[in-house]
Amino acid sequence: MQGRLIIIEGGDGSGKATQTKLLQEHLQREGQSVRAVSFPDYDSDSSALVRMYLRGDFGADADAVNPYAASAFYAVDRFASYQMHWKSFLEQGGIVLADRYTTSNMLYQMIKFNDPADRRAYLDWLEDFEFGKMGLPRPDLVCLLDVPLDVTEQLMAGRQGKTGGTTGDIHEKNGSFLHKCHDAYDELTDRYGWQRIACTEDGRMRSIDDIHADVYQAVAAVLIP
Ligand SMILES: Nc1ncnc2c1ncn2[C@@H]1O[C@H](COP(=O)(O)OP(=O)(O)OP(=O)(O)O)[C@@H](O)[C@H]1O
Ligand SMILES: [Mg+2]
Repeated sequence: MQGRLIIIEGGDGSGKATQTKLLQEHLQREGQSVRAVSFPDYDSDSSALVRMYLRGDFGADADAVNPYAASAFYAVDRFASYQMHWKSFLEQGGIVLADRYTTSNMLYQMIKFNDPADRRAYLDWLEDFEFGKMGLPRPDLVCLLDVPLDVTEQLMAGRQGKTGGTTGDIHEKNGSFLHKCHDAYDELTDRYGWQRIACTEDGRMRSIDDIHADVYQAVAAVLIP
């Protein structure tokens, strides 16, 4: 019996790790068999090319790095994690919660294309590559933690980059990337039916518990009865 794959997606600092942990604890209290993973898998050798990409080894300008190549770096990292850590768990009916997934490639790499036809062609390719050719499972639910751009910019101010140094990785350093990512939310939500979770109210972050309640409600709808 196949379990459920639930993705917590969102921009930098939107609360993905926080919400993934709360959701895991909630489901565990209910007696569900649940496991959490996060991508990129920075602790694994499988993310080596992602780390090279993010620190700028292939070019300091993220826009200039071939989106198909960059997507492949992230995809193989997911493949390694899936094969080694959670494939059989999912196949035996477990619930896997993922902080980022193929959905992050959709967001961060799709926006490198300006032409709508090129964007669609890229998404078609990505779906076929990861879910078709590589055999990674398709998500049963994607919760997009929706934090408006101005609030994201406040949250990000003064934050340290995850790949070392104080200036952030090549995505974080590129201001237009953040804008384009937010602009892509509508397009991706429409195409894939992502559940948008409103994380702000009157321009301020809602409480962690209130956001969790909305995430949980979306998740409950896709759980095996
Ligand atoms: N609703 C909220 N209101 C205020 N602060 C929050 C909220 N949710 C999370 N935070 C705080 O914001 C910071 C970032 O949260 P978290 O690490 O969960 O986000 P993330 O999306 O995983 O970030 P990253 O981009 O680093 O992966 C943490 O300090 C967390 O405690
Ligand atoms: Mg995080």
